[in-house]
Amino acid sequence: MKIAIASDHGGTRLKDELIAVIKDLGFAYEDFGCNCEGSVDYPDYALPVAEKVAAGEFDRGILVCGTGIGMSIAANKVKGIRCALVHDVFSAKATRQHNDTNMISMGERVIGPGLAGEIVRTWLGEAFEGGRHANRIGKILSYEDTHR
Ligand code: RB5
Repeated sequence: MKIAIASDHGGTRLKDELIAVIKDLGFAYEDFGCNCEGSVDYPDYALPVAEKVAAGEFDRGILVCGTGIGMSIAANKVKGIRCALVHDVFSAKATRQHNDTNMISMGERVIGPGLAGEIVRTWLGEAFEGGRHANRIGKILSYEDTHR
């Protein structure tokens, strides 16, 4: 599993904590920034990661900003991306089982590193259930194909 990760200035500390979790799990990763103190624009970090995941260069993408919201909105504009804003372990598990999400987004100003790490461990370890959920994903993919 190859993971792309990025944050804006509001998420750099949590990003570093999550990189430690990814390393501990033994997965390959690439850090797409920002490694900055000054203010940056979250689409500049979310979109490149989303494009690389959509292109198949990475299996999964993880984004962090202050709330996780801006990053998730931007990532979901990229065709083929299903990015969930997740701040609890139940949703982390369910969004893999039901939504086959290829990206998640979190807010450094919303949760602490312990819970965020558990979310990443859960999300990376959970499989898509397929079946009726695959039909639903198919409808989203079909919409993307006909409307973008
Ligand atoms: C930056 O101040 C903040 O707006 C950003 O990190 C994020 O929370 C946006 O959704």
